[in-house]
Amino acid sequence: MPDFKQNVKLEQDSRETSINGRMYDQSSQNANASPAKTLRDQGLSDPLNLVPEDPSSMANHIDSNHSDNKQAKADRFDPNFTQSVINATGPKASPRMRKVMASMIQHIHDFARENEITVDEWMAGVEMINEAGRMSTAVRNEGQLLCDVIGLESLVDDITYKLTSESSSLPTSTAILGPFWRADAPRLEMDSNIVHNIPDGDHTYMHGTVKDFLTDEPIEGAELDVWHTAPNGLYEQQDENQVDFNLRGRFTTGKDGKYSFYCLRPTSYPIPNDGPAGKLLALLDRHPMRPAHIHFIVSAPKYKPIITQIFDRRDKHLTDDAVFAVKDSLVVDFLPRQGDDQADFELQYDFNLATFEQAKKDSGLTGTTEESASSGTGLGPHA
Ligand code: BEZ
Ligand code: FE
Repeated sequence: MPDFKQNVKLEQDSRETSINGRMYDQSSQNANASPAKTLRDQGLSDPLNLVPEDPSSMANHIDSNHSDNKQAKADRFDPNFTQSVINATGPKASPRMRKVMASMIQHIHDFARENEITVDEWMAGVEMINEAGRMSTAVRNEGQLLCDVIGLESLVDDITYKLTSESSSLPTSTAILGPFWRADAPRLEMDSNIVHNIPDGDHTYMHGTVKDFLTDEPIEGAELDVWHTAPNGLYEQQDENQVDFNLRGRFTTGKDGKYSFYCLRPTSYPIPNDGPAGKLLALLDRHPMRPAHIHFIVSAPKYKPIITQIFDRRDKHLTDDAVFAVKDSLVVDFLPRQGDDQADFELQYDFNLATFEQAKKDSGLTGTTEESASSGTGLGPHA
């Protein structure tokens, strides 16, 4: 039986040896996997045949065979089987559950038929999910990470928060939450420094205004929750050398809607790659890097909260984010700052929020009411 946990020791990829002089390695796992080169090079078995002998011939195989054979393959199996599984849903299932699960069963059965998934391959997938569950803790969400590397969190973020508007301006775009947000970050005064005991790094003064996207008026009482990694690429809960809640803070705007604080110009970093998500990336011949970014949740009474990230334009991973979260409108320019002994860089950035009413009118999708804003993310509405 193929074992997803097989000891895949991956050689380092020289393309990605270091960033800012630091190795990618996190949690004792090499992040620089290049399995197409290394699985067979190292004499390791590939029971699922997931690593193609020749990637270009694999691509051809998918392109030409996939659609031609789809019907032929499906016809080889009981044509009534999938519908009988869907029909087993009982009368007390909620309409949403009935609809979503029927669709999921249909897609997953079609997927299995089209790809002629074998018992061994299915069990390897089951083991991957089980392993993700086993290693998940209060500070490690491996299931979410697996979804992230196949773009699912970014896709549902886009679906949930899509907002069209005839107005010339738009609310600030959203981006995935990721697994490292922590509740109850310290509430701080404006101009506070969220950086503790980190002398290196590019110290930055970040400031701007939280505004109503339609009226452009400043929003009083908006809360800005910010978090980012240290220059070693680790969030404080991943790093015993950082103080609790380092590089995190919450700021509440006054009448002028303005916020300001000191932070670091962010650093690109590898997502944790010592578990199933890392192994999946390796099998797909992908790197684990995220472009340098800062996370935010911006909320205010009567406004739909925004979960987002901003990305440093100079980062080479803007176009190949391991979790597919970059949006053009979230790419920013850090500028040099003079005359401030606390910061060498400055970033001005305004956040534009939509009221729940406006969001509901424009969207018609979920995630647009105070209730769904709290249930969707588990974060709760504006506190
Ligand atoms: C993050 O940006 O913190 C993150 C997002 C997805 C997966 C891992 C980390
Ligand atoms: Fe992050």
